[in-house]
Amino acid sequence: MPRLLRPARVLLLGPPGSGKGTQTERLLKHFEIPGISSGDILRRHIKDGTEIGQLASSIINQGKLLPDDLMTKVVASELRRRHWLSPSTSWLLDGFPRTPAQAKMLDAQELEPANASMNLVVELQVSEDAMLERIANRLVHVPSGRVYNLMYNPPKVPGRDDITGEPLSRRPDDDPAVFRKRLKEYRASTEPLVEYYKKSGDVLWSVAGETSDVIYAQLEKEVVRRFGERADESAEMDSEAAGSAD
Ligand code: AP5
Ligand code: MG
Repeated sequence: MPRLLRPARVLLLGPPGSGKGTQTERLLKHFEIPGISSGDILRRHIKDGTEIGQLASSIINQGKLLPDDLMTKVVASELRRRHWLSPSTSWLLDGFPRTPAQAKMLDAQELEPANASMNLVVELQVSEDAMLERIANRLVHVPSGRVYNLMYNPPKVPGRDDITGEPLSRRPDDDPAVFRKRLKEYRASTEPLVEYYKKSGDVLWSVAGETSDVIYAQLEKEVVRRFGERADESAEMDSEAAGSAD
């Protein structure tokens, strides 16, 4: 049974290294909401050597963005494949849409016709120095998109994914020069999205904080405030049992 009372269709927005992937993973664990990351999809295409992967590889390594129409096609087909274009489904998007043009295409072609418009857009605000430090210490598990940090969230076994034991790697775009280009691209192409969503009713919510725990606690509270959480059945049974004992 879904943990939320009302369906949540959430976009996480924020500069490189702001923690979109990290917060997505925590929301997924707590609320059991599935999510997709456009960056993870592209990294899997690169790993599999597909045509999209070949194009993506050079663009990503230059810190630039892929063309809007291609990206929209890739993510829209994923939304359809997962049957998410429905008003009753909850999901999280990390990294898409990333430009006003992508958002307009997604809304007009996919979400609005399905009566499934985004109902929460989270803007993560983190200082530039913190982001730079984080990406310098990041390791990823490409097949799943799981993210680690050598300082704050290290894997249990050095260099290995906690779940599968497979090797972790560094992202080729996690280099200070490419990071600066990605940040510049974010300011030019993605920040205008904040204005776009400001005009879409009460969907935009911004959060700032230095640690994942501080940010996540606020995010979880906001999700519950907006969508309501079903009481945990096992906790209820425990308290009933405790009540009948006295
Ligand atoms: P993408 O993979 O989306 O990269 P990004 O937006 O640059 O964001 P990152 O994944 O680098 O950061 P994040 O916010 O997820 O942070 P994370 O949680 O990992 O896209 C890559 C490329 O693909 C783009 O540059 C573009 O070329 C292309 N692309 C993708 N989508 C596209 C689109 N829609 N259109 C066109 N092109 C597209 O956290 C970072 C590190 O910090 C981790 O090590 C983590 O453990 C740690 N950490 C996180 N939070 C905290 C905290 N609070 N305290 C301490 N450590 C923390
Ligand atoms: Mg990410």
